[in-house]
Amino acid sequence: MLKKTIIYIKLWILFQLFVEISCQIKPLERKYHTATLIDNKLYILGGGIILTDSAEKAGKEFFYLDVSVAFNTQKLFWQDLSNVNTVPSHIGATAVKGGANNNTIFLYGGTDTVPTLVYIYDPQSNSWSIPKIGGYNIHEKKRYMKGVIDTNEKMYIWGGSVVGGTNSDMFILDTINLRWGIGNLIGAPTPRSEHGAILLPNNNIMYMGGYYHDYLPLNQVYFYNIINDNWSTENTLGNIPSSRTSFSVVLGLDGQNVIIFGGNIDTESGSIPPGESLYVLNLNNFEWSVPKISGPIPNSRNGHQANVIGVYMVISFGSGYDRSVESDILLLDIRNNNEYTWTYNFDPLATPITPAKSETPVTSMTPAATPVTTHIMIQQSSNNQPAMIGAIIGSLFGGILLSFGGFFLYKWNKNKKKQKNIMPTPGNENHDNYDREVTLITTEKNIHNHGQEFIQIPKNENTTNHELITNSVINKDSNHGQEAIINENPSIQNISDNVLENLKNEMIQAVRQEIMQNLKETIQNNE
Ligand SMILES: *[C@@H]1O[C@H](CO)[C@@H](O)[C@H](O)[C@H]1NC(C)=O
Ligand SMILES: *[C@@H]1O[C@H](CO)[C@@H](O)[C@H](O)[C@H]1NC(C)=O
Repeated sequence: MLKKTIIYIKLWILFQLFVEISCQIKPLERKYHTATLIDNKLYILGGGIILTDSAEKAGKEFFYLDVSVAFNTQKLFWQDLSNVNTVPSHIGATAVKGGANNNTIFLYGGTDTVPTLVYIYDPQSNSWSIPKIGGYNIHEKKRYMKGVIDTNEKMYIWGGSVVGGTNSDMFILDTINLRWGIGNLIGAPTPRSEHGAILLPNNNIMYMGGYYHDYLPLNQVYFYNIINDNWSTENTLGNIPSSRTSFSVVLGLDGQNVIIFGGNIDTESGSIPPGESLYVLNLNNFEWSVPKISGPIPNSRNGHQANVIGVYMVISFGSGYDRSVESDILLLDIRNNNEYTWTYNFDPLATPITPAKSETPVTSMTPAATPVTTHIMIQQSSNNQPAMIGAIIGSLFGGILLSFGGFFLYKWNKNKKKQKNIMPTPGNENHDNYDREVTLITTEKNIHNHGQEFIQIPKNENTTNHELITNSVINKDSNHGQEAIINENPSIQNISDNVLENLKNEMIQAVRQEIMQNLKETIQNNE
C-alpha cells in the first residue's frame, strides 16, 4: 500500500517534470508589449510587429520569466500562461504592478477597438478580469504611453495617442480604491506619445522625448509632481542624446541617475547605432553622458521594455535585433556607476555595491517568501481545488527531495575522504568565499521551498560540507535545471560544479533505478 503510494508520487513527480517542460513557450517576436514584474516573475503580454499579422498572434500569448533563479539569456525558459489570457490582442498598452495587495497587473489602453480600458491579472488566481472603476468618467483608450505607479498605488497615465491625434490628459487610476481621477495640465509640456516616463525618488514623474509631429528632443525634461499636482521643466546639459521615441527609461540603483536605452531617431532606418543607444542623465545636475560599458554590446532596440530586476536593467523584446543572434532579453549590470556591463548571465542574488562590507548582504535581497502556491499550480489551475492538491503534493515533493538529499548526504559522506584534497575547507584562505556560497545557497533554497521550513545553516559554525550538498541537490531539482550557484572564486566554482554535477548524475541514476524497480515490483504484484 505504502509502496504503491510512493510509486504514484514518483510518477506524479515525473509528470510534473513533464508538465514543467511542456508549459514552456517560444514566444513570437513583438514590440510595444508590456513587461511587469511581480514576485520574481516578469510577465509579458501584448505587442507585435505591426506590418504583419503577428500582432494578432503575439497578443494571444501571455508568459513569464522566472527571475528568482539564475539564468543565461541565451537559454531562456519562458513559462506559458496563454491559456488564461482573455485580453484582446493589442499593441501599445501600458501595465504596472498595483492593487490592494500590491501584486496585481493593471493593464490600460492599447490599439484594440474593445471599449474596455483596464484589465487586471491576479497571479494568485491566475486569471484576468475587468475591474469596475468609479470616479471620474474616463472613456479614452490611449496607446503608446508609459503608465507610472507611485508608492500609494496610483497609476499616472499622461500623453499617448488616440485615433486621429495625441492626447495630453493626465489620467490617474487609484488601483486600490478603483477610482479614476485626472491631473492638472497647467505647465504641462507638449502632448506626445512614445515618450519616456519614470518616477523619481523626489515624488516627480519625469517625462522626456517622444513624438508630436516630429521626434522630440531631450534637451529638456519635464516633471509632474504627484504630491502638488503641478508641472515644472528642467534644461539638460552635456552629451544630449538625439531626439528619439520608443526608448526605455529606468532609475539607477542609487536613485541619482536615470538610464535610457534604444529608441527610434529621425533617420531613414530610424535605428540608432549601438554606440548611441545608452545614455545616463545625472539627476543632481541634469547632465547627460554616455556611460562606460563592458561586455558584448547589443544592437539598439525600439519598442522594447526595461525593468530593473536586482542589479540589472532587464530589456525585453522590441525590434532592431536578429533573434537568431541576440536573445529577446538583454541584461545590463548597473551596479557599478563607473562601468555598466552587458552580460548574458542573470544572478538573482547579486547585490548592489555598497561602500562598507555589509553584514548580511543576502537577506536584504531575499525576496518575500512565496506562499505554498508553486508555479506548478499557477500554470495548471484557475480554481482552488487543484491548488489544494498541488499544495499537498508540493509538500510531499519537497519531503521526498529532502529524503533524497539525506540519502546523498550519506553517500557523499562516504565519498568525502576521496574528495578531501579538492574540497575547500572552512578556515583556509578561501573561507570567506566558501561561506558566501553556502549562504547564497541557503537563500536560494528558501526561495524555492515556497514557505516550507528547512534547516537553517548557522553562519559561523564550521559550515559543514554535507549541508551544502543537500541543499544543492534540493535546488537542482526545483530550479528547472538551471544553475543557481554563484561564486566569485572560479576555482571553487569549478570544484563545486564538478562535485554537484557528479552528484546530480548519480541522483538521476538512482531515482531512475528506484522507479524502475518499484514499477517492476508493482507489475509483478499485480500479476
Ligand atoms: C509595492 O511594491 C513596490 C516594490 O515592488 C514598492 O516599491 C511599493 O512601495 C509597494 N507599495 C506599497 C503600497 O506597499
Ligand atoms: C508646486 O506646488 C508647490 C506646493 O503648492 C509649490 O511650493 C511649488 O512652487 C509649485 N511648483 C511649481 C513649479 O509651480
